[in-house]
Formats: sequence, C-alpha cells, structure tokens
Amino acid sequence: MRILVLGSGAREHAIILALASEAEHHEILAAPGNAGIAHDATVIPLDPNDPVAVTDYANTSSIDLVVIGPEAPLVAGVGDALRERGIPVFGPGKAAARLEGSKTFAKRVMDTAGVPTGRAVRARDLGEVGAALDELGAPYVVKADGLAAGKGVIVTSDRVLALDHAATFLPTGAVLIEEFLAGPEVSLFFLSDGDTVRALSPAQDYKRLRDDDDGPNTGGMGAYSPLPWLDERFGSEAAFVDLVTRDVAEPVIRQLDAEGTPFIGLLYAGLILTDDGVKVIEFNARFGDPETQVVLPRLAEPLSRLLLAAATGTLESVARPAFTDTVAVTVVLASEGYPEKPVTGRPLSGLDAAEHVPGVHVAHAATAVDGHDLIATGGRVLNVVATGTDFREARSRAYDAMGHIHLKGGRFRSDIAARVAG
Ligand code: AMP
Ligand code: GLY
Repeated sequence: MRILVLGSGAREHAIILALASEAEHHEILAAPGNAGIAHDATVIPLDPNDPVAVTDYANTSSIDLVVIGPEAPLVAGVGDALRERGIPVFGPGKAAARLEGSKTFAKRVMDTAGVPTGRAVRARDLGEVGAALDELGAPYVVKADGLAAGKGVIVTSDRVLALDHAATFLPTGAVLIEEFLAGPEVSLFFLSDGDTVRALSPAQDYKRLRDDDDGPNTGGMGAYSPLPWLDERFGSEAAFVDLVTRDVAEPVIRQLDAEGTPFIGLLYAGLILTDDGVKVIEFNARFGDPETQVVLPRLAEPLSRLLLAAATGTLESVARPAFTDTVAVTVVLASEGYPEKPVTGRPLSGLDAAEHVPGVHVAHAATAVDGHDLIATGGRVLNVVATGTDFREARSRAYDAMGHIHLKGGRFRSDIAARVAG
C-alpha cells in the first residue's frame, strides 16, 4: 500500500515503524515528519492541517490510506475532506473529533450515552468558578474546555491556584470544574469504523513532569504496557478490556453514529479506576503520545490491515487484535524549560549508541538536522523505547539507552515503570 501519515511526533514515528515492520512492503510517506521519521519514510513538504492540500496530494499520488496522527488536522477537517473524495482515512471528521476538542461536548455525549464519568460544572466567569469549586470541594480539578496539548488541566487543593488556572483560560472560553476522581489511570485505545470497535492493549501514561507525579501536567513523560496489575483487579486484561468496551467505547460510538457524526479512527479512553468503578476522565480522537510508542511494538499483527479496516467500514470482519507477551517501556526526553518555555535549537547526540542497547529504538519527536548536527526543536524531543521479556529488563534497557543520549538541559523522569519492575 501507499500510506500517508500526517504529523511529526514520536507517536507518528511509532506508527511508521509499526507499518515498516510488516511482512508486506509499504511505501510510507510522511508530512511534515522529523529527522527520525525521514529515515523510515519519505518526508514530503505538505501542510498536514490544510484539507485541500492533503486531499489533492492524496489524490494525485494514489494514496491508499491516510493516517492522521495529531488532533490539529482532525479539527481542521482534513478527515472530512478526504472522505468526501472517497480516500480511505483513519481519523474522525471535525464533528466527531469534538469528543477531544470540547470537554463540554464529550460530557454531553457521555451523559446521553450513560457512560460513567466525573460530575462537572461549566463556568463562564470567576464568580461561577468560585461557586463550582465550593460545590464540588477539594481537591479541585479545573479544565480548559478546548484543546490545550495536555496542559489545560490543573488538579490542586489550593483554591487560589485553581482560580488562577481558570482565569488564564476564561478569556478564550468556558472552563469545566470537575469532581476529583481517585485511582490509577489507564489509557485504552479503540479502533472504530463508526460502528464496530476493536480494543488495543492498555497502557499507562506518566502525565506529570517530575518523578513521583510531581510538577505540572505535560503531554506525557513516559509509558508502559501491558498493565500487569489489571489482572488482580479484574481477573485478566481481557476482562477489563471487555468491560470498558461494553460500558464506554460501544455506547459512545453508537451515540455519535446516532447523531449522524460517526467516529472513524482512534478513540482514546483516558480512564480512572475508582473504588466506584471505571470512569472516563477524557477522550482523545487520536492515538495517545507516548502510549502508542509502547502499545504498537507489542501488536502481533499488521497495523495497516487494522487501520484500513477501520477506514473502510470493515472492522467487523477483523478479529480482536492480538498482542505479544513482550513488555514495553518508553521514557521521554524533554528540553530544558518544558512544558512552559522549552529551550530549542540545542545539539542532540548519542542516539546511535542508545539504539545499540538490545531491544531499544528511538522514536523521534522534535528533531531536525542542522548542517551536520541533529538538534532538538521542541518540548518533547524523543522517546527511548525498550522492549523486554519483563519490566525489569525493559526498564533497565530504556535507562541504559537514555544514559547514552546528550542534550544540554535535557530532562526525563527516572521512575517510569518503576512500580511494575519491582
Ligand atoms: P485530561 O487532560 O483531562 O486527561 O487531564 C490530565 C490529567 O489530569 C489526567 O491524566 C489526570 O491525572 C488528571 N485529572 C483530570 N481529571 C481528573 C479528575 N476528575 N480527577 C482526578 N484527576 C484528574
Ligand atoms: N498521553 C496523553 C495524550 O496523548 O493525550
């Protein structure tokens, strides 16, 4: 197949590596890509957020499948434009992508579909925010309503900080004050063709910047998959996945279909396992980053077939995706100053040595070639991804590899998968 992948992060690099590892040979194109993606795909100069440009390119280049990585092209209507021209695309249209783009919309869909989630109050000014904080009580959860790259949420017991956070986002729209939910978090991905869903294997993301879940929320600083502790709680991973499929994914997909806005692409369920049952904290309309980097290396079948089946409405004929017993750990290297003000343009080295560690590869996020140098061009720079037979092995490989990489001021968490590595 000729496959076009839109995006430039480590998630897109992970998708491309999974496609490139298949027995069948694919011609893989990427826009805009990054320095690492350029090794594994043909990078083309194309604005991924321009529906007309992407559709024209896909048409004239006989693309068989377009895979949309990040949310921006979804929100820009790239999925709609491609589908209108009959080009198979993995990624929902603008309307269904509001599941991620608007927390108010997501809450409304969940309430209508009877999907368990925390109680939330919408507030349009500081007076309403204060009243909602008092009504729901501490710890306070304040969320920007629109897209904020994982940085729109604050969880704090400090009422002043909660009000300050609301005040930063109120000029651009309403905020949500949400009931605090306690428990471990799980990211579970579902492929959807608008009607049928197929779950992938669960992962856990580390959202906070610093060890021990300290510091501000980020896009994600590391992840691991699978989650062995699900067995204790639910009997098996399959039992957990079945429960979430029945209580969360299927009702939401049915609801969006009934509203005339079918969801075709990846439904990312961000879940908290509370004492009161599994509850949704957020939906995303795309693969998670960095969770994708640990889920896809464990997939035991061709990714292209699954994505094409979702894009062409034939997921019902596809069996539940199988995963290997290998475990995977990823650690994110971020630039100094991330997430507030990342320092960019610094040289990056040691990646070859890192990739010589057994079971390790590097997924690039914000990298570019500058003369003879590889440089970091953004907040999250790259992911070290390690697989192994158990978490102790995968984790030690990941940190061994990270030790070879140099980026002045670069930071990473040292506790990724520590709990499961024992
Ligand atoms: P979100 O962008 O909605 O996924 O939120 C980012 C992070 O904030 C989540 O991964 C949680 O760690 C935390 N969070 C969000 N909503 C809640 C909630 N209702 N209760 C507790 N923590 C939350
Ligand atoms: N890792 C969280 C996200 O992709 O939104």
